[in-house]
Amino acid sequence: MNEHVIPKTRPALSPAVERWLASERAMLIDGRWVQAQSGKTFATHDPATGDVIANVPEGDKADIDLAVKAARRAFETGPWARMTPSARGRLLHKIGDLILEHADELAELEAIDNGKPKVVAKAADVALSADMFHYMSGWATKIEGKTIPISALAAPGLDLVSATRLEPIGVVGQIIPWNFPLLMAAWKLAPALTTGCTVVLKVAEETPLSALRLGEIMLEAGLPAGVVNIVTGFGETAGAALSGHPDVDKIAFTGSTEVGRLIVRAASNDLKKVSLELGGKSPNIVLGDADLDITIPGCAASIFFNHGQCCNAGSRLFVQKNIFDRVVEGLTAEARKIKLGHGLTEDTQMGPLVSQVQYERVTGYLASGRSEGARATCGGEGLGGQGYFVPPTILVDTKPEMKVVREEIFGPVLVATPFDEVDDALIAEANNSVYGLAAGVWSRSQGKAQQIAHRLRAGTVWINCYHVFDAALPFGGYKQSGWGREMGQAVLSNYLETKAITTNLG
Ligand code: NAI
Ligand code: MG
Repeated sequence: MNEHVIPKTRPALSPAVERWLASERAMLIDGRWVQAQSGKTFATHDPATGDVIANVPEGDKADIDLAVKAARRAFETGPWARMTPSARGRLLHKIGDLILEHADELAELEAIDNGKPKVVAKAADVALSADMFHYMSGWATKIEGKTIPISALAAPGLDLVSATRLEPIGVVGQIIPWNFPLLMAAWKLAPALTTGCTVVLKVAEETPLSALRLGEIMLEAGLPAGVVNIVTGFGETAGAALSGHPDVDKIAFTGSTEVGRLIVRAASNDLKKVSLELGGKSPNIVLGDADLDITIPGCAASIFFNHGQCCNAGSRLFVQKNIFDRVVEGLTAEARKIKLGHGLTEDTQMGPLVSQVQYERVTGYLASGRSEGARATCGGEGLGGQGYFVPPTILVDTKPEMKVVREEIFGPVLVATPFDEVDDALIAEANNSVYGLAAGVWSRSQGKAQQIAHRLRAGTVWINCYHVFDAALPFGGYKQSGWGREMGQAVLSNYLETKAITTNLG
């Protein structure tokens, strides 16, 4: 089964990244690059080799306090508070341009810090990050209130006019995960900035590097001091201090549902606003009439893209009985073709999982599946040895109550189940999850596919495609997959307050 041969050493870095890594890494607070107040640092690793890549400051409560103060100052006084929407928009656009200018470097940082293939990081993470800033830059000048006719108090002598103003919510705390380090920073920062907020961003401890590089890019674009502060540190210390900070107006979080609950609890002290983008266990439904030429590669990508480390991964596959064996055979063949390796090796299609912790988590699920009677048609075990490699795995002979079917694995592990008919039982089983983030439907019948899409309790449904993301498309979860939406016009409401102003003209 272990036909994958992983090179033991990291391919050479580009001179630009080599130079950048050789200089001291610091966090961004109030426009300056600083070390932690405590002087502590921690290491970030290349998950393909386990080697230390860099040491970064271990920010904690004291650093979060400084960052929040800087963000508050920048929100209330200084150039950002006075900047016109048009100037704000142009600045965001410039950040998008600079991301593209530094695409190779950013993709390389993602490859060594997160493990994903550089080519994928460049085509997906970096391109979508730039697009997010470009798209959001246009909204800066289009955040409009309304004039509202009112009736209740109409009386002689009163001539009332009411209007709404949409104002930035204030100082925003943003906490992001490691699966798309740069892109998650972009998803969070761009809408907060276009609405005029200021930010303290707490990056994931596994993957701090690309966001620090983005911080440099934002300063180069002309972002004033204190508007974005980037703190590196751990969740239990820096993250918890940010989510409970009394001078933070809003927390935006992406990560596990478990930590989402902790964030809500911490934010409840002073009832700060919260938006959450959490886990998923998304159903992917293949009807008997599906075009298998697109369905099989599409379903493989739905689970194996980014090594399955996607909140929206199509991890529960339902295939109509007449084609179940053909689809599983096709997917197994696709999975076996995927080349594992270092993210900097050009022909690598799948890198390692992000960390030892995730490796143990995912291989723990594989062991649980085996012990409960699931059968792997490919993969099934971690590769062991150096790096955190888990091969693409497809599990069959599962039962609905198994842990591998119920829980988010966050690795390249698909569970495949046959169904008889498109009926209420199928829809109920597809919706049988505490999550409701995404779903897929594959069919030649547009009508049938649409009808199923309407009945799925999920924030995103893809028909005959998967993983289609766009800065213009709202993304987020039903049920325990989250609160609020990322991207599109919808995300703006995460960062705006509505103020109604009534004037008596009489
Ligand atoms: P996590 O939810 O612990 O980490 C995400 C972010 O939250 C990180 O920046 C972390 O430092 C921060 N954090 C952790 N504890 C915190 C606390 N008490 N207060 C404030 N911030 C805190 O996710 P983790 O442990 O890296 O991964 C565990 C599982 O979570 C994965 O296996 C996966 O199932 C899920 N996950 C889901 C993601 C998504 O995109 N929805 C992303 C990452 C993980
Ligand atoms: Mg790392």
